Amino acid sequence: MRGRPVRAVKKIAEPGAQRCINRACGATYGLQERIYLCPRCGETLEIDCRLARPKNPDALRRSWAASANSKLPRDSSGVWRYHAMLPFEDDAPLVTLFEGNTPLFHAPRSAKYCGLSDLRLKHQGYNPTGSFKDTGMATAMTQALISGARTAICASTGNTAASLAAYAARAGLQAAILLPRGQVSPSKLAQSLDYGALVLEIDGNFDACMRLVQELGDDPSIYVANSINPFRIEGQKTVAFELMEQCLWQVPHHIVVPGGNMGNSTALGKGFQELLDLGLISRLPKLSVIQAEGAAPLAHLFANLGPKQRTDLEHLPEKLEPVANPQTLATAIKIGAPVSWKKALRAVLRSGGKIITVSEQEIADAKAMIGRDSIGCEPASATTVAGIKKLVAAGHIGRKDDVVAVLTGHALKDPDYMIRYHEGTLTSAAGAVDALVLPKPIAGAFQNAPQRVAGNKTAILASLERPR
Ligand code: F0G
Repeated sequence: MRGRPVRAVKKIAEPGAQRCINRACGATYGLQERIYLCPRCGETLEIDCRLARPKNPDALRRSWAASANSKLPRDSSGVWRYHAMLPFEDDAPLVTLFEGNTPLFHAPRSAKYCGLSDLRLKHQGYNPTGSFKDTGMATAMTQALISGARTAICASTGNTAASLAAYAARAGLQAAILLPRGQVSPSKLAQSLDYGALVLEIDGNFDACMRLVQELGDDPSIYVANSINPFRIEGQKTVAFELMEQCLWQVPHHIVVPGGNMGNSTALGKGFQELLDLGLISRLPKLSVIQAEGAAPLAHLFANLGPKQRTDLEHLPEKLEPVANPQTLATAIKIGAPVSWKKALRAVLRSGGKIITVSEQEIADAKAMIGRDSIGCEPASATTVAGIKKLVAAGHIGRKDDVVAVLTGHALKDPDYMIRYHEGTLTSAAGAVDALVLPKPIAGAFQNAPQRVAGNKTAILASLERPR
């Protein structure tokens, strides 16, 4: 729905600006300029919302809590509930499918698996199209309407596509989607088709699709909906606000997210930083990003940073060495040249977090463990639990620390992966059209294959007794 906004909390944002993240450039641009990279220096942009520090942070917290119980359309969205923190006027044509308001689960089996006394999982797969992309798509499509675009476009490994397809349709815009042919899970492709998007399959990987989208972004009729667009980040940052409400404003020690194109880590970093700047929290949680071993350009860069580079946020590395042919079964994060790497790196370094890799086997087992917690997620999301296990073993995360992992996609996004794992037929090249390496088997360490049984009571009772 597109509702007239209803003022629920005192607005503390003034019309902001788009700002180049390169301090040496420092260019700023109006919110209505349709640009994605700084026209002066080519660096990425972020939105300065010009937030005013509230006189009474408690009153603001209370007003957010009260709005969660409101039945007003704007308050029912877990994004637009935080309108006061977003760069939109009160009369903006808000696009919403009731995104956000996602659960924060305790996950005792996954906690034990990681060596922690407790672990909470913030499940963004409970969004309307089944992934975290919806929070950012609500704001991006609102801005697309404001800017008078006709067509919204994205490159995608599948989830951005499904989300854009749904939100563009809701906004009355045409959605055009560039997908790497044969490298997107059928569930995600099916969603985009069903929501009526124009799906264009490209012979190439995600990075090739992303390059094309950046070229197409020059056309005045086209609005780029990838996370290079700073208005996407604005919606996605609200997850930090919602999470802090769910944590009763007790800041977790660690937040752990998967890393692909690096929009999510950028957005969470921005959200927590704004809460800190406004005096709503007193410290930042350590933000760590986990990449799949075969698609880990930022983890490689992070591992090679010198001690000075880890603390000097004014002089971030200029270049990221892309991974030319990224490989992982977690197709959502099969990305070799992430566009938002610098913003994500800055957020991680500022918080004292880490960027590390996990193997295909580690991802698969962590995913099964999240399943055993009755929660489930898609493979990319499981990098978090796999990464936490490694960070606990390495001593970066303490066994009693308060840890939240952000699960980014619903388990049903990739059923083929799950079935193959449980049947014991998953290999490192499963479903890949471009694998260069010979497939390696992935053990179903927590395998749970279906059993064939005779259709009678005795046989079924006997199978119940069999040890598993
Ligand atoms: N998890 C899932 C399920 C994703 O779909 C993605 C990204 C990520 C994690 C990584 O997040 O890119 O913000 O670092 N999917 C994009 C897409 C690339 O096209 O759907 P990121």
